[in-house]
Amino acid sequence: MSASLNIQLSPFAADVAEGLSSPVKRLSPRYFYDDLGSALFEAITLLPEYGLTRADERVLRRHASELGCILQSVSLVGELGSGSGRKTSSILQALRVRNPGLRYSPIDVSPAALDTCCRQLSDLALISPICSDWLDGVGQIAARRVSDKPLLLLFLGSSIGNLDRASISKFLFQLHALLRPGDYFLLGADLVKDVDKMIAAYDDAAGVTAAFNKNLLSRINKELGGHFDLRAFDHHVRWDAFNRRIEMHLLAWKQQDVYIGAIGRRFHFEAGETIWTESSHKFTELELESLARASGFVPEKTWTDLEWPLAETLWRA
Ligand code: TRP
Repeated sequence: MSASLNIQLSPFAADVAEGLSSPVKRLSPRYFYDDLGSALFEAITLLPEYGLTRADERVLRRHASELGCILQSVSLVGELGSGSGRKTSSILQALRVRNPGLRYSPIDVSPAALDTCCRQLSDLALISPICSDWLDGVGQIAARRVSDKPLLLLFLGSSIGNLDRASISKFLFQLHALLRPGDYFLLGADLVKDVDKMIAAYDDAAGVTAAFNKNLLSRINKELGGHFDLRAFDHHVRWDAFNRRIEMHLLAWKQQDVYIGAIGRRFHFEAGETIWTESSHKFTELELESLARASGFVPEKTWTDLEWPLAETLWRA
């Protein structure tokens, strides 16, 4: 028996093998977030060029009491991703005024992220963290509901933009199917803006986003016995105007072969070839409205930020 034929690949190794064998090389963004990747992402949210997180926080803080008024019957809040405590705390604070027994369920695949979130928000609500995928997590919340008061589901930080545009409608439709009529969905989505501003947000001068992107290769080296030379790859960001998305790539600036031990083979890169690691789609308010209706929601209200165009939009199931 040949060992290489029967090699049992871990899910990470199998994904890397598949992504690097495809004609357009890809690596899944889900592998960004090991401990170093998560720390680098936290740093990204503090960068002067990356205005998205601050805009998200600003809009929610500014309109928290109005949200509290509209959402006065909500006693349970779910969140896709455990988010930054700062964003979520202004919402929980506003809801708690009328609902002292407020419950909050963050959904995340990372136990570390859930841990941090619980520590930051434990004063504001009764927290039941759910360690799982988004849809699965919402399913768990739906199955455990006892009160017939409406649920508020949060999806902030424009994470929706990191899905493929073609799969966004399906995802929203599936979410909607797990909700009850009258439930609320609060979505934070980054809007199309000046191209230089969008590019700079993903290609900051200090190189933090470049480090975040390259950390994927370093993770393959560490965990899969990879032989990537991080200096032979450049962080490469482009705006695709047709698809209205920022694309992040790792560009091999010279021809090279890279061996990955856990996969047992080498991968060839031409000079100038890239590995596509992440997309961040940008939206218009009109597009968000039609996404809402196409998936069964009724758009109720949208708040925007002037400094960093971003929409915080409230939909009702
Ligand atoms: N959803 C955010 C965005 O698209 C966060 C994010 C995901 C991100 N991947 C990233 C930010 C890579 C910077 C780099 O902006």
